[in-house]
Amino acid sequence: MLRDFSFERGEAREGVLMCEKCGREYPIIGFLPILTPRRVKPYDWISVELTKAEERYGLKEAIPRLAKGELKPVELKPGELLLTQEELREGERRDSREYWENRLKRIREERVASGDLSELWDAFVAMSRAEMIEKVLDAGTGLGAMLMYITRKWPDKILLALDISYVNLRAVRGKLRYFRIGGNVHLVVGDALNMPFRDSVFDVVESWFGLGNMVGFRRVMGQAHRVLRPGGYLAVSGAWEKAYLNPRYSVFGKVVDALTSQEYEELTGFLRRTELMLRVDEVVEAFRGVGFHDTEVFEKSDFYVVAGRK
Ligand SMILES: C[S@@+](CC[C@H](N)C(=O)[O-])C[C@H]1O[C@@H](n2cnc3c(N)ncnc32)[C@H](O)[C@@H]1O
Repeated sequence: MLRDFSFERGEAREGVLMCEKCGREYPIIGFLPILTPRRVKPYDWISVELTKAEERYGLKEAIPRLAKGELKPVELKPGELLLTQEELREGERRDSREYWENRLKRIREERVASGDLSELWDAFVAMSRAEMIEKVLDAGTGLGAMLMYITRKWPDKILLALDISYVNLRAVRGKLRYFRIGGNVHLVVGDALNMPFRDSVFDVVESWFGLGNMVGFRRVMGQAHRVLRPGGYLAVSGAWEKAYLNPRYSVFGKVVDALTSQEYEELTGFLRRTELMLRVDEVVEAFRGVGFHDTEVFEKSDFYVVAGRK
């Protein structure tokens, strides 16, 4: 049930969603339903906290702080607002034409720098079986590269985009409008560790560099298994050990070549504690561990795609 809402061009801009069964209430803020569990702030904490620490101490000191577990997600106090004024403003900014004009220029340059990943894209799309089905969950939507790809190629699919970051999903909203994509795409701010969906509702769960890089990977796999219908597919892509710990690359977007070998050790330990998968065989083992069958693997340079059937 929707109440206290305001509409803008046929879309609920602000309001409250109430679950008729349990009575729990979830806000709609800036056009997006926020379905995160209680006290979970809708933001990508690792990248935000690491960036803040980097600004404060420099990267050399920020990475070991992360490794030691000193950087944590903010826990909301009772009554505290989910999003600060600054986050709301940032959401507005990203949900604009100007943001996407600048951003797309940069993305083109990044793509040239990171080389050709087309084989990996093709393998991912084929292994997810997205072509053959109806309802897709795009988990960890980020700025929506895979979401856009699927919705442009198969505009008739029902696509749910799930991300914990309010500002990223506002950006995706802006991107969809920039490219005039309507269709059946629904944006939901939520935590993949506690997916706000019923059991067995999706035909495919796919995550292009989303779940594969997520804290608490095994639990996320379990959630993906839960929301898939029997026979449905999960496909995940990620970067493995060589990419993560290779100085040429980065951890959560930060280049780590300034670390000593001991700091590297600490960081690897941290990544393992967060269940970030560092090797492709660990990813496969996690798939099987939660009950996926017929696991397939595709590897290309430092990246992988793993898929499995429920
Ligand atoms: C590298 S981006 C994903 C790229 C994206 N799939 C694409 O196709 O462009 C990773 C995303 O995962 C999201 N994320 C991290 N932890 C999450 C969680 N627990 N639940 C949902 N999303 C999460 C981050 O907010 C970020 O937007």
